[in-house]
Amino acid sequence: MAAREEWGSRLGFLLAAIGSAVGLGNIWRFPYVAWDSGGGAFFVPYLFALLTAGIPLLVLEYSIGHRYRGSAPLSLRRLDRRAEWVGWWQIAVCFLIASYYAVVIAWAAGYTWFSIGTQWGDDPEAFFFEDYLAVTEAGTLGGFRVGVLLPLVLIWLVTLVVLAGGIRRGVERANRVMIPLLVAMFLVIVIRAVTLEGAGVGLDALFAPDWSRIGDASVWVAAYGQIFFSLSIGFAIMITYASFLPRRGDLTGNAFIAGFSNASFELLAGIGVFAAIGFLVTSTGVALDEVARDGIGLAFVIFPEIISQLPGPSGLFGVLFFGSLVLAGVSSLVSITQTYISAVQEKFGLARPAAVMLAGGATALVSMLYATGGGINTLDVVDRFVNAFGVAAVGLVEVVVVAWFLRRLPQLRGHANEVSDLRLGWWWIAALGIVTPAVLGWMTIDNLRTELTTAYEGYPVGFLLTFGWGLAGLALLVGALLARTPWPQHTPTGGRPPPERDEPRPEGDP
Ligand code: ALA
Repeated sequence: MAAREEWGSRLGFLLAAIGSAVGLGNIWRFPYVAWDSGGGAFFVPYLFALLTAGIPLLVLEYSIGHRYRGSAPLSLRRLDRRAEWVGWWQIAVCFLIASYYAVVIAWAAGYTWFSIGTQWGDDPEAFFFEDYLAVTEAGTLGGFRVGVLLPLVLIWLVTLVVLAGGIRRGVERANRVMIPLLVAMFLVIVIRAVTLEGAGVGLDALFAPDWSRIGDASVWVAAYGQIFFSLSIGFAIMITYASFLPRRGDLTGNAFIAGFSNASFELLAGIGVFAAIGFLVTSTGVALDEVARDGIGLAFVIFPEIISQLPGPSGLFGVLFFGSLVLAGVSSLVSITQTYISAVQEKFGLARPAAVMLAGGATALVSMLYATGGGINTLDVVDRFVNAFGVAAVGLVEVVVVAWFLRRLPQLRGHANEVSDLRLGWWWIAALGIVTPAVLGWMTIDNLRTELTTAYEGYPVGFLLTFGWGLAGLALLVGALLARTPWPQHTPTGGRPPPERDEPRPEGDP
């Protein structure tokens, strides 16, 4: 039987895991969430969420992947045949996320180019929505936008070439270049930003603690929400990446390193973004709460405004900022796409290049639907619903199934302790058995209540039913159906999927 691929070194795995975690969410989401949720006081719920859910879930997913050595569906099937569908649901969620995540990276690539000579002119908002995307009504296609399509094709080419290279020669090697480069570029941004006039105004706003918010449940939910998305947990990535770790792999130590590295990058992003916002506020006299935004508004409207105002070589700052978004995005996209490449490889007995062409190529084609005039509206709705009823809901189901129904936490803790230097105590079981399900359950109910009582962003109900509820539901359905299709007798690994470690093959293994 052909040996399962493995990471070349611990550092290689860590860089890939950090590359997956550090993404758009760190740069354009964390700074706003922290500022909006109590500033300096937000760091208390954030740290609490990291220690009681983020790191415990990382260890859980690393342990499942490392112990059962398969993609999420195969690893979960080996854990217990009845859990396979959860893995497929995660895979379907990853497919949906990859299809629109790539488009945002394509915009950032376009803006790296537009930064040279600040090509967005005097009104970046009009440039983005009217000139660049030429947005049409929700639910319409409105034709391809060449300025989005070209970078999108390029992003997919890079991603698929990296993935075709395999774990060690493709994913690991690419992250060894991308992550140090990203950190170096972002450090330059932060140093430039904090030396701008008015930077202190932004930093004061970010760090001044509003302790009155600490009793507000929504602040705690925001902290947990940020941790889940930012650490790439709940959507199969970490199970997949850990399945390529060699026998000795300090799982718990790796989880702490990845969790705190990701948090450090979020802090760095917060400093860079708010220092730059402070500069904008000081140089234009506009109120801070008018320009403190997250997501698309921050990256493609406020940052171009900041860049246009900068003294000196402003284009370079723009190239570094948007280039960082591209690097952070591609390293995450590679990890999201790897989840279903592994799953398709194992389930359909395909060699890696065929799985990359088939599964990666399919996502690339689907993602082109977002490179149209109506793309941004569809992206907005899919993102909202897939996060609420994909990532958060599947994370909840994963932890409830493993902790409560199958009662496998003690066994998985035993596995993590056996191979790790750091030993997990009872707190790990309590965090996963009680805290995480409680918070994720609350979040899912809250999301359901919100989306059932108000039409998200005022979009037409039919549009929300199709691209919001419809796609989120479809992911669950596809998961359930794929779990019912048989495993192949002949796989490229020699007739059977690769075995799990050490222990006898559990019942129900294909
Ligand atoms: N963890 C990735 C991000 O933060 C998906 O964007």
